[in-house]
Amino acid sequence: MHGSRWWQRGVIYQIYPRSFMDSNGDGVGDLRGIRSRLEYLSWLGVDAIWISPIYPSPMADFGYDVSDYCGIDPRFGTLDEFDALVRDAHGMGLRVILDYVPNHTSDRHPWFLESRASRESDKRGWYIWRDPAPGGGPPTNWLSEFGGSAWEWDAATGQYYYHAYLKEQPDLNWRSPAVRDAMHEVLRFWLDRGVDGFRVDTIHHLIKDGELRDNPPNPSYRPGMPPHRRLLRLYTTDRPEVHEAVAGMRRVLDGYDDRVLIGEAYLPFDRLMAYYGQDLSGMHLPFNFHLIGAPWNAQAIAEIVREYEAALPPGAWPNWVLGNHDKPRIMSRVGAAQARVAAMLLLTLRGTPTLYYGDEIGMSDVPIAPEQVQDTFEKNVPGLGVGRDPERTPMQWDGGAGGGFTTGAPWLPLGSDLARTNVEVQRADPGSILSLYRALLALRRAEPALSIGRHAPLAAGPDLLAYAREHAGRRLLVALNLTSRPRRLELPGGVLGGRVLLATGLDRTGELLGAVVDLRADEGVIAEVASAQG
Ligand code: GLC
Repeated sequence: MHGSRWWQRGVIYQIYPRSFMDSNGDGVGDLRGIRSRLEYLSWLGVDAIWISPIYPSPMADFGYDVSDYCGIDPRFGTLDEFDALVRDAHGMGLRVILDYVPNHTSDRHPWFLESRASRESDKRGWYIWRDPAPGGGPPTNWLSEFGGSAWEWDAATGQYYYHAYLKEQPDLNWRSPAVRDAMHEVLRFWLDRGVDGFRVDTIHHLIKDGELRDNPPNPSYRPGMPPHRRLLRLYTTDRPEVHEAVAGMRRVLDGYDDRVLIGEAYLPFDRLMAYYGQDLSGMHLPFNFHLIGAPWNAQAIAEIVREYEAALPPGAWPNWVLGNHDKPRIMSRVGAAQARVAAMLLLTLRGTPTLYYGDEIGMSDVPIAPEQVQDTFEKNVPGLGVGRDPERTPMQWDGGAGGGFTTGAPWLPLGSDLARTNVEVQRADPGSILSLYRALLALRRAEPALSIGRHAPLAAGPDLLAYAREHAGRRLLVALNLTSRPRRLELPGGVLGGRVLLATGLDRTGELLGAVVDLRADEGVIAEVASAQG
């Protein structure tokens, strides 16, 4: 496929390493576990795996608090095991993307220990230290994403340090050239080991206001929302200088062939687009999370697709995400019937899809009892439903004790649906959601129209979402019924007829279409269509 890159054609699969596969019975997933399941991922038909952080970490935020950027946490394995994983993955044609966490380190990182040791430390300026406000107390009103002030008092040196997340996650000062150099070295360390790219954590937080202005109140804040929402993050996120920092990372990647830079930023489309960088010198793929919060109806989704496509800068490549380790699972948001429609949507829209582990077998959020809570966000701000444990539960490989994930006690509970919702049962069932995902991935791989083709929305009334994907004269039509009632789609003028390639029920392949497509409740269909103009 001429001119397109692997990360444009390909599908990314996110692995939350604590929960994918445990090889040593300690109840926590590890690298040898992932390696033992590569055959499954290759069978499934994804192109790349992105592994959430595997670096040494005190695990205050389960690996997003890094104490050594160039190592592997012993809970996950060793550097040798990592190299073996990359080798095996590459041998199967799977790319490996790592999580890169530049905004903050762990408070146990040697850099921070040195920085906090004294005001005269060489590394004092590597973090964001400030004197108290004139009348005492924190320097600004800035709030931590995980509750409370974003400033932590350090009695020993008489200053506060800034942490956008937990106090165990002090923010690095990306205005410091020494920090940038050190963090670029980290990228090179992994690129030299053969890593195919990075998902960059919370990129819009990287630079904070130089003048330390207070954030204004958020007029749409309502009680019951997470406490940090009380303020608009005007001066703490998405600052103009962030783009230069992103371009610096990109320059490092551009010294290597064919690597990908993906950025995590929850932002409205107009602001998100800036992360592609001037003349596309920034992120290859600033994550598009807009389907995650979308009201699940055809009109709302059509509007999101329209707005996104219209906002993309020339030459920028789109991407789509249905879920991740921070958000409720798609299955729990839209229900089992629509989860199939969602799968077809994710894998037929124009742009690189990222699939969250377990979504392909229809895993749901697992209820977590108060005494089982692991996520510090939930512990800090209990009862508001912000906890992320439910979507981080172990991958369900089979129906046995431990779900085929562990021979020990899993760190989070398995779903009560384990008997049905597991890989082994669904691999044997040609009608399962796993079979649907696999068929969608195979079709996407076989049809350039689906991976790199043009996207053309079709008028389809309020309940249906319909679009065409076109490449080199081949035209595919996607029709999705977002309701639980049967619906009919009139094929657009000029279409002479068609043939179903895949339906969400996996039971209509080959069916010939006339002037209409009749969709059953909660059904999606992909068809090849021939039109008068060819
Ligand atoms: C990102 C991660 C999230 C983490 C936070 C702080 O949003 O996805 O899991 O808690 O950054 O690193």
